[in-house]
Amino acid sequence: MDRRLPRRKILKAAAAAIAGVSLAPRPGRAAPARGERIEAQIARMTPAEKAGQLSCFSDQIRPTGIAFNPDLPVGGAAEQLERIRRGEIGMLFNGVGVAGARMAQKAAVEGSRLGIPLVFAGDIIHGLRTIFPLPVAEACAFDPDLAERTARAAAEEATALGLHWTFAPMVDVARDQRWGRVAEGSGEDVHLGSRLAAARVRGFQGADLRDPTSLAACAKHFAGYGAVSGGMEYNFTEISPGTLREVHLPPFEAGIEAGVATIMSAFNDVEGVPASGNAWLMTRLLRGDWRFEGLVVGDYAADENLVAHGFAADGRDAARKAFLAGMDMSMQSDLFNRWLPDLVEAGEVPMAQLDEAVRRVLGLKEALGLFDDPYRSLDAAAERLRVSTPAHLALAREAGTRSIVLLKNEDDLLPLAENPGRLALIGPFANDRDNVVGTWAFMADPELNVSIAEGLAARGVGFDVARGCGIEAALDGGIEEAVALARRSDVVLLALGEAQDMSGEAQARTEITLPQPQLDLARAVLAAHPRTVVLLRHGRALALGSGVREAPAILATWFLGSQSGHAIADILFGAVNPSARLSVSFPEASGQQPFFYDRKATGRPAPEVGAQEYTARYRETRNEALFPFGHGLGYTRFALTDIRVPARMGERMEVSAVLTNTGPRDGAEVVQLYVHDRVASRTRPMRQLKGFRRVELAPEESVTVRFTLTRDDLRFWGEDGWTVEPGTIDVWLATSSRTGERRSFELD
Ligand code: BGC
Repeated sequence: MDRRLPRRKILKAAAAAIAGVSLAPRPGRAAPARGERIEAQIARMTPAEKAGQLSCFSDQIRPTGIAFNPDLPVGGAAEQLERIRRGEIGMLFNGVGVAGARMAQKAAVEGSRLGIPLVFAGDIIHGLRTIFPLPVAEACAFDPDLAERTARAAAEEATALGLHWTFAPMVDVARDQRWGRVAEGSGEDVHLGSRLAAARVRGFQGADLRDPTSLAACAKHFAGYGAVSGGMEYNFTEISPGTLREVHLPPFEAGIEAGVATIMSAFNDVEGVPASGNAWLMTRLLRGDWRFEGLVVGDYAADENLVAHGFAADGRDAARKAFLAGMDMSMQSDLFNRWLPDLVEAGEVPMAQLDEAVRRVLGLKEALGLFDDPYRSLDAAAERLRVSTPAHLALAREAGTRSIVLLKNEDDLLPLAENPGRLALIGPFANDRDNVVGTWAFMADPELNVSIAEGLAARGVGFDVARGCGIEAALDGGIEEAVALARRSDVVLLALGEAQDMSGEAQARTEITLPQPQLDLARAVLAAHPRTVVLLRHGRALALGSGVREAPAILATWFLGSQSGHAIADILFGAVNPSARLSVSFPEASGQQPFFYDRKATGRPAPEVGAQEYTARYRETRNEALFPFGHGLGYTRFALTDIRVPARMGERMEVSAVLTNTGPRDGAEVVQLYVHDRVASRTRPMRQLKGFRRVELAPEESVTVRFTLTRDDLRFWGEDGWTVEPGTIDVWLATSSRTGERRSFELD
């Protein structure tokens, strides 16, 4: 029998964060009554000034000089300063530096009629000057606490450099590795993605948005962007209602529960309605069902894109549709400035709705304390002292080591002995310092970058280098030189992968393989020397071609950020025991995309072993991963024993197992809890992660790992909405999405 679940409780923090109501008055100051100042401002504002507060532009007053979006005519510094004085700009984004921000703020506070301060935003995705691992890499640590700490450090740097608001975390669940933006999120899993979304929000925002080191967060892109068809950037989506509810929306709900101040609307459509003009998403669901009170900012010109979508006739129509659907702030297109006053005048947009959107923008400014101190986070001393600190660099190195996944390690080739004999470092990334931070690091300090060669050298290890080939092009005589070096070495480190600009926004790929010249190099080097360790660099899961997959040891090292080389050396030599687990499955072949571990059962499952016609497989391969979600090795061994699963469950129950470090070293294991509903009115995923715990143990040490499973964990989107159906549920306590002993229980 179906049983409707009560709608999930939304924590108070969510509502309070932006309205500024939870913020305690500073000592010695009288607290302004809630919203009083805001209402007074709104009463004085003209429709044009209101539209100005709802408009934001890329910062030309302190530009970074790097274009990562189509240029739109937003004017230069002088024009922007003039527009600020005229009250036509509510926020500037992606500029950096205190001096320029103070100048812009002065123009707003002293030069505009109303003196409303600007808010400064930026894409601070995984660091600002100090860069931490890509989010998809850091997700492999399976450690919300680590994600919270790196987000906090990023907030400390961003607020020292004159920012108040980050367009992060990106919480899109990404199940097609052809999509370049896999790099920015937490991978393919909903549960992991939701836990990390909440952790990053907590890290960016801190306990109180008013704190000068707190950065307002933005969960993006709402919603379904991770489902772009064929993995092609900006493409349409086809998402079933169940998949939308069960896969794409939960990380947003988790972010809201953690108190996220803002949400960004997406470029894609959902069921034929562009997300940025989608009243069901931005108003009915977000405001109605979820009671989100924060600000919704449209993605870059996403309102204007409604015209190309064929959803709006022209700019005026696009502004009207985006605004009425629930977009509070327009990014870069200038459409709100241009059309909202006119639309209000014509009676096509109610003034009350315009006021409500302005209330949210001013609410964010109030929550950040900008009305009390417009120059908060614009402190030249902090700019010098709080950026690239030794503590941030140490954290970047720690996070780097925690993100490296040991995919394969035959005959314990790793860790290398302190003195490994003659060591060769081969490949296009051996000495490379230009491809270590990954996407969204346009404000990074390149001086902090550490190459693999520098990381090894810092350990005092001797080695010889041969490039072998370029990232995408062969080098004359490169392979010969590399093979000769391999032959006279005892161990080879082969550094292969994607260039930094092959993942990220607008970097969709049709094949998720290594470029051919690198495969040729790998084949030749492996043939010349069997003791070869492959160090992969990448912003997505890769399909490893022959020549690479046969290597006895393979490390997924992603883009680890500023301290890459040190982190890699720490893992290679065992200073740190690898403990990361894959946040995205590495498939057998590109053609399996979209591929993810929690795919649904089919009516013709392929056998575990051997090929069979007329089952769910390809001619060339079974539909399995080469390295599945949750997989990762270390330099010690663990055993999971004494697994306890009660026979029946009512509302909740505890499952547990004893984890023992049976190997020779200290190490960490990630215990993963998966479930599967055997018979249901909707086809269910073959396994779904519902809990995980990272546990550090010394040799021979044991601990009982406990999880609480609730009815809520077993719900799914059925005919009439959320439902839980009684029956048999399979459960695994495992160390990857493919291992573990199946147990089961009856759900009453
Ligand atoms: C991206 C957003 C980003 C914005 C501003 C867009 O192209 O989709 O994620 O926040 O640009 O840089």
